[in-house]
Amino acid sequence: MLHEVLDLLRCRSGGTYVDATLGLGGHARAILEKIGPDGILIGLDRDKESLERARQALDAFSARVRLYHENFKNLPLILNNLSVPALDGILADLGVSSYQLLTPERGFSFRGEGLLDMRMDRSQRQTAADLVNELPEEELARLIYRYGEERFARRIAAAIVRSREKSRITRSSQLSEIVTGAAKTRSHPAIHPATRTFQALRIAVNQELDGLEEFVTEAISFLRPGGRIVVISFHSLEDRIVKQTLRRLSGRCVCGRPRELCTCPRRILATTLTSRPIRPSPSELEANPRARSARLRAAERVEASTGSS
Ligand SMILES: C[S@@+](CC[C@H](N)C(=O)[O-])C[C@H]1O[C@@H](n2cnc3c(N)ncnc32)[C@H](O)[C@@H]1O
Repeated sequence: MLHEVLDLLRCRSGGTYVDATLGLGGHARAILEKIGPDGILIGLDRDKESLERARQALDAFSARVRLYHENFKNLPLILNNLSVPALDGILADLGVSSYQLLTPERGFSFRGEGLLDMRMDRSQRQTAADLVNELPEEELARLIYRYGEERFARRIAAAIVRSREKSRITRSSQLSEIVTGAAKTRSHPAIHPATRTFQALRIAVNQELDGLEEFVTEAISFLRPGGRIVVISFHSLEDRIVKQTLRRLSGRCVCGRPRELCTCPRRILATTLTSRPIRPSPSELEANPRARSARLRAAERVEASTGSS
């Protein structure tokens, strides 16, 4: 969704931008090309290998790029240390990259032959294999249901426990087979039966939902009035957090209570630019079917005020 991102960020020459999820630097490069010789890009990724690849890919811009191996939760620390002026724009393209998915030894893909790893940050200790082999069955079922929205979660957890009693589950292909055996009826014919379980484990291993609300809130506080944030999510749990956070920051009710009982703060920091999430165009979906679940939301920073809606 490169065109949509660039349109919404309205990159200006000489501006300062953050790419909070650098990946291999595709979006970052496009932003750098727009912001001219005086523009600065601050890039973060919690995956060291991706960051090093992005560093090489962005070599031509090295004087204007600051890269950090960091979780975006720590963006405030980085920005405070850099003492940068207020930001013009922030991008977060959440989730896993094609590079991570297509590298079998990272263990993200149910099609891969690698070890069941799934850590974005490989300095972290817990892997997907640890969760699959060590969590009690009930907890495993809850995790698969909650983060994968998988209706066969109980059946899958039971099959995992039966299998691990015989021998430790160590490889992605092994888990993929177990899940496929347990969830024979596909909820969606075009989706591999292990998709939801792999997604759930990935979210749990990387604690992907933790700190997302705080990140969006903090990020907006670093924008100058008129500066913009764009967030692309890949599953409904993430998208819900982004949507609710942007709603709250634009002074709207998020508690769902009747108006007279609502205690939601009414401090307005942003206006939402996307009343509905933007979805990939048919031509993008044709070129990249993996983008099918992408949802883009954006907001613009305003001078803080107190609203009444
Ligand atoms: C979808 S990819 C981004 C692709 C990128 N926009 C590009 O053009 O190549 C997501 C990236 O975000 C990183 N990531 C995910 N969660 C993160 C977090 N909390 N902090 C920092 N990086 C994160 C992943 O390691 C991955 O490289």
